Amino acid sequence: MVRAAVYDEVGGPGVLHLAEVPVPEPGPGMVAVRVRAAGLNPYDAKVRDGFIASDAPFPRRIGADLAGTVEAVGADATYWDGTPVAVGDEVLGSGAGAVAELALAAASNLALRPPAVAAEVAGGLKVPGLTAVSCLRTLPLSPGDTVLVGGASGAVGLLVCQLAVRAGATVIGSAAPRNHDFVRSLGAEPVSYGEGLADRVSSLGPITAVIDCHGREALDAGVQLGIPVDRMVAIAGYGAVKELGVLNVERSARTAENLAGLAEEIAEGRLLYPVAATFALDDVVEAFRALEGTHDPGKVVVLS
Ligand SMILES: NC(=O)c1ccc[n+]([C@@H]2O[C@H](COP(=O)([O-])OP(=O)(O)OC[C@H]3O[C@@H](n4cnc5c(N)ncnc54)[C@H](OP(=O)(O)O)[C@@H]3O)[C@@H](O)[C@H]2O)c1
Repeated sequence: MVRAAVYDEVGGPGVLHLAEVPVPEPGPGMVAVRVRAAGLNPYDAKVRDGFIASDAPFPRRIGADLAGTVEAVGADATYWDGTPVAVGDEVLGSGAGAVAELALAAASNLALRPPAVAAEVAGGLKVPGLTAVSCLRTLPLSPGDTVLVGGASGAVGLLVCQLAVRAGATVIGSAAPRNHDFVRSLGAEPVSYGEGLADRVSSLGPITAVIDCHGREALDAGVQLGIPVDRMVAIAGYGAVKELGVLNVERSARTAENLAGLAEEIAEGRLLYPVAATFALDDVVEAFRALEGTHDPGKVVVLS
């Protein structure tokens, strides 16, 4: 048996508790990962509190992103490039119920962790990293663009800012005032979110594109500023795709190959990917409270 964070009913962070669960056996294409670090995502909290519906039976495990050590390998388990997964490999990616001592993962969702990337950094990379890559794939940017990134200090937003700057775009990123220096450090011009966003953005200059990394507000500002809907992409502003006609973030870039590329860039110091806070598995409730409250830029990570 291993310890895993579980919940028996939908609700706030307080419904989470640790339970002993059977050690899973990896089937074909699967591996068992001894989890060292599991990054928490807002999606995990949205399913837990019922904002996103799930028909998974209770008790439910929680978490997806992870970094850890391969402990057991199922038949035909290979990485994206065809290399067989081996016991003892240090990996990053995602698995089912990652906030635990052990989790099952599809080998196709994993990449080898570069030694220069700490497990606590790698453990929170997959979902935000591949979402950020997908934003730029959905909405390519070029040096003529000025893009508004809504939620620039979040895990997805801080990566989107860096990728947009690299594409040559001028970047305006919305964040709380306490994070404006951080947004500047990404190469972006900060702006405060909240009422009057469109006016504050237009005072900085005309924009040509919007990437929503927090919610509807940046997209509504884009509409006010006359940005065509095919130059705006939504990852969190649920409803905006249908109601406004903006682009939905595409999924084809969410590959382990791209994940390996992002990890390499972090290893080489070409991408900044901070950890906001770490918590022990025993403190999983506090960890989710930190994720869902005000936290420093970067990932909230549970260490097993
Ligand atoms: N569609 C997808 O595939 C996908 C994938 C990943 C994430 N998401 C969604 O994207 C969102 C961000 O995820 P994340 O992992 O980046 O979360 P995160 O790291 O917790 O960051 C959330 C950020 O939102 C900012 N924020 C709070 N209120 C805001 C407002 N009114 N306007 C603009 N920003 C505001 C916060 O900035 P301050 O700290 O500066 O206040 C915080 O940095 C979540 O809703 C998540 O569910 C979607």
